Amino acid sequence: KRHLISTADLSRDDAILILDTAEEMARVADRPIKKLPTLRGRTVVNLFFEDSTRTRISFEAAAKRLSADVINFSAKGSSVSKGESLKDTALTLQAMGADAVVVRHHASGAPHRLATSGWLNGSVINAGDGTHEHPTQALLDAFTMRRHLAGAADGGPVHHRGPGDGTGRDLDGRRITIVGDVLHSRVARSNVQLLHTLGAQVTLVAPPTLLPIGVGSWPCEVSYDLDAVIPKSDAVMMLRVQRERMNAAFFPTEREYSRRYGLDGLRMARMPEHAIVMHPGPMNRGMEISADVADSHRSTIVEQVANGVSVRMAVMYLLLGGAVLPDTDAPIRNA
Ligand code: CP
Repeated sequence: KRHLISTADLSRDDAILILDTAEEMARVADRPIKKLPTLRGRTVVNLFFEDSTRTRISFEAAAKRLSADVINFSAKGSSVSKGESLKDTALTLQAMGADAVVVRHHASGAPHRLATSGWLNGSVINAGDGTHEHPTQALLDAFTMRRHLAGAADGGPVHHRGPGDGTGRDLDGRRITIVGDVLHSRVARSNVQLLHTLGAQVTLVAPPTLLPIGVGSWPCEVSYDLDAVIPKSDAVMMLRVQRERMNAAFFPTEREYSRRYGLDGLRMARMPEHAIVMHPGPMNRGMEISADVADSHRSTIVEQVANGVSVRMAVMYLLLGGAVLPDTDAPIRNA
């Protein structure tokens, strides 16, 4: 494959290969010298038309750890604000020799357009497009779940089991609950598809007004009752309420929303002992998640960010056909 646009494009074998490669990359990140020479001489462009903290920084860190040259492009302060089109921006990047373009865009479908237009020769990696998809977020979420939930018997203690067994069966039957503003969430879309591919059972919990039309055809269950689902969850992923994508008239009130759909300490106490709390970030503390839950020992929120670097290293390594991955137990030359 040359591009990563949607988790729907990943077979089970593709997803497992990325997750296993990310485990190798994580071992490199644990070393005092964190760099590999695999993408030396290659250029990665971070093309961000929408704000980002985690995704932009972790793609930059990942590319640098693979020794690629990195160009960061933010639409703010560029000629996009003078009306330059996506096509002309892409042609400009192509002229500078981009081997990979990591794109975040407010328009659903923009990365697909870049990948199929012929304006770019390099790989296109979707870093979040509108309300459509955020595939590397789903991959880092699956990586995190796999580390905590892999191979466990139902209800058993499962924390920090280490990498999956490479058979792709390690999320089979895991019960993942995704809660909140599904309507505007590219993270939910990518996760539902990827987790289904990996054999997990996904339940979406949301107010009816924050579920998309057509959710009935997604490969998951839907519930409106968080309290009923929580005790049967191996992981509970809270979603940010995306006010910037809503008409102000439809803002849910913070108190009512958190009462019915927020995760606080009382609800967390009803989760199985082994279950983890996830959030892609950024969080609305006090709305979809209380501060004590976000900072609790069951929260993997900071760990998800760290795992994002390993997963993005794996994606770029595989798409750009880096040199053979060295034995990560052997000394690695500083590139
Ligand atoms: N999870 C996520 O995409 O965060 P950023 O918007 O900060 O990149």
